[in-house]
Amino acid sequence: MSKPVLFSGIQPSGDLMIGNYIGSIKNWVKLQDDYECLFSLVNMHAITVEQSPEALAKRSLDFVALYLASGIDPAKSTVFIQSHVPEHAELAWILNCSTYMGELNRMTQFKDKSQKHEHNINAGLFNYPVLMAADILLYQTALVPVGADQKQHLELTRDLAHRFNNRFERDLFKVPEPFIAEAIAGGRIMSLQDPTSKMSKSDSNKNNFIGLLDDPKTILKKCKKAMTDSGDVIEYDIDNKPGVSNLLTIYSVISGKPVSEVIKHFEGKMYGHLKVELGELIVDYLAPIQQRFYEIREDESHLKGILKHGAERAREQAQKTLQDVQKSIGFVLP
Ligand code: TRP
Repeated sequence: MSKPVLFSGIQPSGDLMIGNYIGSIKNWVKLQDDYECLFSLVNMHAITVEQSPEALAKRSLDFVALYLASGIDPAKSTVFIQSHVPEHAELAWILNCSTYMGELNRMTQFKDKSQKHEHNINAGLFNYPVLMAADILLYQTALVPVGADQKQHLELTRDLAHRFNNRFERDLFKVPEPFIAEAIAGGRIMSLQDPTSKMSKSDSNKNNFIGLLDDPKTILKKCKKAMTDSGDVIEYDIDNKPGVSNLLTIYSVISGKPVSEVIKHFEGKMYGHLKVELGELIVDYLAPIQQRFYEIREDESHLKGILKHGAERAREQAQKTLQDVQKSIGFVLP
């Protein structure tokens, strides 16, 4: 219990894809031994944009099964669904009352999502970063692996932690540090069709990413179709050859070989070779993960048992922090 606490969350939206795997899940698996890890499926965040209820329910279990199939071990890490731990919503409310409109107005993700969902700019979307702060602060989290796009939210989390600690003159919350995923993975995974933007699981064009559950034919096809650049030399050059560079990055991470070695391997070959070999590499890599996924997914009561256990474990700590906060702000405890 003396290991530092690490918390991360993934929203059950879109399809889990290799960008999530390389940028998050694969790292989580490695971090499990060195940190007290909590991995949450943040379904309360997901409903800040409209979700089909059936799809949300199915996807939530699919995502958790994929975490487990990828090597997240529920004996080591706490895996749970956010809505199973009501303390998240309770702390979020309290934090909301100490968060300024101006702070939330500045959030670039809110501005982006407001533009994308202009028919549904709801209060939850605005308050999203406060719920995220609650996720993190409830567990006295030391480290939060997040993408660069979440750094601003983590800054707010830190500000809120300081605000409470100063107001009550004690360490109610640990002030968390970011653990930027890109730095760990050694590269950002970009969209296959538009290699200048990040690969996203919510992309409406599914050719832009390789889903963790895509079948071999689909994977090979998507790799073949990936956008490459003018010229015909396979080299790593982000500015002039973002497409080829992205494929090299993926190849490197999946094969575990440095990019320089991958380039040597493809010396004198054409873009087409890289695409075909990359497709085959990914198919082989995902095969055992997919097989484990289908096994885990078949036994839903076992899966739900793991989640129940995870939520119970998470609640122990969450209740402690929440009660402490409630006492401090003058809530009479029952
Ligand atoms: N907002 C994060 C994202 O979209 C997901 C998330 C919610 C999260 N709560 C979190 C990530 C707490 C880290 C810690 O990527």
